[in-house]
Amino acid sequence: MAMRRRTLLKVIVLGDSGVGKTSLMNQYVNKRFSLQYKATIGADFVTKELQIDDRHVTLQVWDTAGQERFQSLGVSFYRGADCCVLVYDVNVGKSFESLNNWYEDFLKQANPSDHSSFPFILLGNKVDIDGGNSRVVSEKKAKDWCASKGNISYFETSAKEDYNVDAAFLCAAKSALANE
Ligand code: GTP
Ligand code: MG
Repeated sequence: MAMRRRTLLKVIVLGDSGVGKTSLMNQYVNKRFSLQYKATIGADFVTKELQIDDRHVTLQVWDTAGQERFQSLGVSFYRGADCCVLVYDVNVGKSFESLNNWYEDFLKQANPSDHSSFPFILLGNKVDIDGGNSRVVSEKKAKDWCASKGNISYFETSAKEDYNVDAAFLCAAKSALANE
C-alpha cells in the first residue's frame, strides 16, 4: 500500500487593520461571522484539513495584526511560508494603497528562494457592503495590480456573507502545494 504523507502548508494572511483577515479565517474554519471588531494582537493560527487531489493536506493559516503597535513578528515567523494571502477592503482606498508595502515587506522577511514565483493571493473583501455602492477600488484596478506583480490570483470576498471564502483559501492551498 502506498504511504500516505500528510503535508503541512503554512499560509500567512496580511493586510491593513480592519480589512477582515480574522473574519475571513473565522468564516472559513468555523463558519461564523461577528460584526464586532476585536483587534488581533501578535499572530495566531487555525488549521483546516483538506483533501487536494489524492493528498491529505493540513492547511495552517496564520492570522496577523494589521495594527502596527500589535505587530511583533520576527523574521523566523515568515520563514517557511508556502503562500501569502493579502487582503484589502474594497471600500477603503488606503487598504489597497498599502498592498505594495505588505507585498514588499513579506518578500523581505520571508525571503523565499525565488521572489518572482512565490505564490500570493489577493482578496478584495467586504463586497457586500451597501450592495457594492460604497466601493472605491474597482475589480479592474485590483486585477491590474495583480498582473503587475506577475499574475497573482484575485478573489472578491465577503466574510459576512461567506462569499468566495472557501474558493479563495482553496486557491491558497493549491498554490502553496504547487510551490512545495
Ligand atoms: P486587525 O486584527 O486589526 O488586523 O483587523 P482584521 O483585518 O482582522 O479585521 P476583522 O476581521 O477583525 O474585521 C474588522 C471589522 O470588519 C469587524 O467589525 C468585522 O465584523 C467587519 N468585517 C469583516 N469582514 C467583513 C465583510 O466581509 N463584510 C462586512 N460587512 N463586514 C466585515
Ligand atoms: Mg484580526
